[in-house]
Amino acid sequence: MKLNGKVAIITGGASGIGAATAKMFSDEGAKVVVADFSEKGQEVADSLFGNAIFVKTDVSKEDDIKNLIHKTVDQFGSVDIMFANAGVGDATPAHELSMEDWQNMIDVNLTGVFLSNKHAIKQMLKQDKGGSIVNNASILGHVGQEGITSYTAAKGGVVNLTRSLGVTYAKNGIRVNAVCPGYIDTPLLDEAPDELKQQLASLHPIGRLGTAEEVAKAVLFLASDDASFITGANLLVDGGYTAQ
Ligand SMILES: NC(=O)c1ccc[n+]([C@@H]2O[C@H](COP(=O)([O-])OP(=O)(O)OC[C@H]3O[C@@H](n4cnc5c(N)ncnc54)[C@H](O)[C@@H]3O)[C@@H](O)[C@H]2O)c1
Repeated sequence: MKLNGKVAIITGGASGIGAATAKMFSDEGAKVVVADFSEKGQEVADSLFGNAIFVKTDVSKEDDIKNLIHKTVDQFGSVDIMFANAGVGDATPAHELSMEDWQNMIDVNLTGVFLSNKHAIKQMLKQDKGGSIVNNASILGHVGQEGITSYTAAKGGVVNLTRSLGVTYAKNGIRVNAVCPGYIDTPLLDEAPDELKQQLASLHPIGRLGTAEEVAKAVLFLASDDASFITGANLLVDGGYTAQ
C-alpha cells in the first residue's frame, strides 16, 4: 500500500490514463478525487467502493480548480497528491490553425496544468507537510511531430513548468514531476484510423502502443515516497520513442 492515508486528486480522471491511475491509487490505499468535465467521472468514482468522489471540473477555469481543492479538503481533509492529467489532442498544422483552437489547447493543456499545480501547491503549503505533484506531459513536449502545432507547444510548456516548480518548492517538501508518455491506446486515439494506429505503434522500438496502466505505474512511482529524491524530472514512458 504505497499511498496509504494519502488524498489524491486526478484531473481528467474519467477516462484513459486518468481512470487507470484512479484505480491504481485507490488499490494502493489513497482516497481519490476524480476531477473531470465529463460526467463519466462519477462512474469511475463509484467503481472505487467509497474511496473516491467525483467533482465536475473544467481545469481551464480557476474557479473550478478552487472549488475542486475546497471540496477535496472538505471531504477528505487534505490534498497530498495532484495528478494534473486532463488534456485534449489536436493535430492541425500551423497555417490552418485558428486562434480559437490554439487558445483552447493552451487553456486546457497548459493553463489547466498551471492552475492545478498552483492551487494544489497553495493548499500543500498551508498543510506544511509536503506533497507530490505529477503532470502529464508527452513525448511531444520533448520532440516535434509533423503537422502538430498547439499540442507540442503546450506540452513543451508543461515539461519546463514542471522543472521550475520542482526547483521552487523542493524546500517545502513538495515534489513536482511529469510523466511523458509515448502513444498510448486510450480514447484520445479513438479517432485515429487503425492504419494510423499501426503506424504510430511502429514508431516505438518496443513495437506497440503503450497501455494506460503502464503510464499509471510510472505516475504511482513518482507520486509515492519511492521517488522521494526525484523532483523537477520528466519521466519518459515511451517504449524507446525518444531514445532513437
Ligand atoms: N493517449 C496518448 O497517446 C497520450 C500520449 C501522451 C500524453 N497523453 C496525455 O495524457 C493525458 C490523458 O489523456 P488520455 O490519453 O487518457 O485521454 P482521454 O481522452 O482518455 O482522457 C482525457 C480526459 O481529460 C478530460 N478533459 C479534457 N478536457 C478537460 C477539461 N478542460 N477539464 C477537465 N477535464 C478535461 C476528458 O473528459 C477525459 O476524461 C492528456 O493530458 C494527454 O495529452 C496522452
